[in-house]
Amino acid sequence: MATLYHGKMAAIYDAMYQTFVDYDEEYAFYNSFIKENNCKTILEIGSGTGNLAKRFKESQQDYKGLDYSESMIAIARERNKDCTFIQGDMRDFNLDKQVDAIIITGRSTSYLTTNEDMDETFASLFNNITDEGIIVFDFIDANRFIPYINENQKIIHQARHEGINYIRESHWETTTADNFMVEWQAKYYTNINGVKNLIADDFSTVRVFTLNEMQLFLYLNNFEIIKTIDRKTYAYDTYVIVAKKKSK
Ligand SMILES: C[S@@+](CC[C@H](N)C(=O)[O-])C[C@H]1O[C@@H](n2cnc3c(N)ncnc32)[C@H](O)[C@@H]1O
Repeated sequence: MATLYHGKMAAIYDAMYQTFVDYDEEYAFYNSFIKENNCKTILEIGSGTGNLAKRFKESQQDYKGLDYSESMIAIARERNKDCTFIQGDMRDFNLDKQVDAIIITGRSTSYLTTNEDMDETFASLFNNITDEGIIVFDFIDANRFIPYINENQKIIHQARHEGINYIRESHWETTTADNFMVEWQAKYYTNINGVKNLIADDFSTVRVFTLNEMQLFLYLNNFEIIKTIDRKTYAYDTYVIVAKKKSK
């Protein structure tokens, strides 16, 4: 589990991602599948600091968030006073009532590093959506990401939030020991008048997937794919999949 989402890193994440990600566009994108499939009740997994929650609540939709990190949830609750956030693990959770749509946003699938994690997650999703329900999730495309990080040793992102300039320097190392895993080392700095000040250091092991293996995971876990979208997000080539329970 990444350390990134704990303690003060949650606040730094929140500040930086506000500038990387267009959450209005992100909301419109995910909401389009929810509307298309007439879903009334929604669970977002990896709800993070509650940026999508805010948009769902503003549109008066029946939304709940679920995240593993208490620190991320604390920020999400601060941002959305009237919203339910559940501290939980996507690999093993049980809602009181099944929902019509579960979305896993912001490449949170990268933290499912073993095949067992994948199977457990899909089993939980299966049990927590209605028979007509859908799941929508994104993942980083291994076929494009691995060549990219092999060719770019250091990847720098800059962001400005509430008058503060931030720099993130990432270094990715490929390892194929188990699946397509990448080791991600990130150093976060503030940049005040050209002087860099290290504020946090993070090391995570994350997983990227090929489209074929994701199709097989879904097949083996009794889902059928409704749509596959090739989508570039701020730094990654991703696929987004919309799936439903296999017809009996
Ligand atoms: C990259 S952040 C994305 C947050 C948010 N969706 C966004 O786009 O800003 C990944 C999130 O997934 C959460 N997460 C990681 N593993 C998880 C798990 N097993 N179950 C639930 N949440 C998890 C982290 O705590 C973090 O908030």
